[in-house]
Amino acid sequence: MRTQVAIIGAGPSGLLLGQLLAKAGIHAIIVERQTGDHVLSRIRAGILEQVCIDLLDEAGVGERMHKEGLIHRGIELLYNGKRNRIDMETLTGGKKVMVYGQTELTKDLMDARVAADLHTVYGAHGVAVHDFDSAKPRVTYEKDGKSYEIDCDFIAGCDGFHGVCRASVPRRSITEYEKVYPFGWLGLLSDTPPVHDELIYINSPRGFALCSQRSKTRSRYYLQVPLTDKVEEWTDEAFWQELRLRLDEKARDHLVTGQSIEKSIAPLRSFVTEPLRFGRMFLAGDAGHIVPPTGAKGLNLAATDVKYLSHALIEYYTDKSESGINAYSERCLKRIWKGERFSWWFTHLMHRFPNEGTIEAKFQEAELDYLIHSEAGSRMIAENYVGLPLEFGG
Ligand code: APR
Ligand code: PHB
Repeated sequence: MRTQVAIIGAGPSGLLLGQLLAKAGIHAIIVERQTGDHVLSRIRAGILEQVCIDLLDEAGVGERMHKEGLIHRGIELLYNGKRNRIDMETLTGGKKVMVYGQTELTKDLMDARVAADLHTVYGAHGVAVHDFDSAKPRVTYEKDGKSYEIDCDFIAGCDGFHGVCRASVPRRSITEYEKVYPFGWLGLLSDTPPVHDELIYINSPRGFALCSQRSKTRSRYYLQVPLTDKVEEWTDEAFWQELRLRLDEKARDHLVTGQSIEKSIAPLRSFVTEPLRFGRMFLAGDAGHIVPPTGAKGLNLAATDVKYLSHALIEYYTDKSESGINAYSERCLKRIWKGERFSWWFTHLMHRFPNEGTIEAKFQEAELDYLIHSEAGSRMIAENYVGLPLEFGG
């Protein structure tokens, strides 16, 4: 088989890249180790920044998102028993975010790929990338007992944190920065109306909590839990009970509980790989960086990598220019580090860290109070939350 771009991984990054390349007439094959159903069963955050919304429109998959997605103009921060609103729209000169689940977005991208008759290999085993430091990279894999080889011009490593692309780079060519947090998020999805029409981020003496949503009838809640907790040990009743204890009185009164559709514990990690280009192989999305979920930057950073990468590849094929390819890593990393910084900082502000005493809680409270009452402070949160602009310079 031969293609121009071999994309490894059919998560949001790989699918979105495939769609943008197809629109530009560039041939790509996606190779994914899981089944399509498995990819769709993963529950992830669902807050889209404007740049991400624009990109989905550009890819031609924005129709259902605009119909079903919910526009959010603010968020609430709850500390010291009181809720305070950050008016993102006013503070950023009109910017907003969209609530639209990553599962729905992935489904839209998968449907568009099928409709355009684009080639995706699901259930590929033993995927390996070869010769990406030469002009003739290759991808090999096995499926249903047969071996396959794809010759290509470029490899896009969109294969997530546990993927094969980053792992195939010689250790001396790569620097990895990592921080693992000493707690996890226990998430619960339920078909119950959200407790509030905007998201509530909660700093409580019992730990962080988040009231999020997928639609007007589907809620997503999270609790900070110790890493030693097992999801099987958390009954729905225990979850709702603990959430109530972290809410304010009004939210407690409004909370509608119900049976969970999904419950899981996710660890929190900050991770960045430098660089993101190795000859003719590029890393994009979770393959190159992970953020803790506080602030929901993961999908948005992935989408902007894909924007820069598709731009670079289109420039290569249409203008015969390598300038976008050469700038790819630096361009992405500039934005990634700002997203990483915000996610790390917001995590620190809102969580209770084990082994930290009462003085740290007082520092957090004072900082929150400062941020809420300072226009500059509130604007800093709002600007980062709605997403920093794309920069094509440098
Ligand atoms: N071969 C083929 N496919 C692979 C391999 C492999 N060796 N390893 C992993 N994959 C596939 C995974 O099965 C997965 O479907 O690559 C895909 C990577 O998808 P994601 O992990 O969703 O990563 P990405 O597409 O970059 O999406 C980023 O996901 O976790 C969120 O915060 C993140 O929202 C952001 C988004
Ligand atoms: C989610 O809805 O899953 C979500 C929302 C906001 C976050 C993290 C997760 O900051």
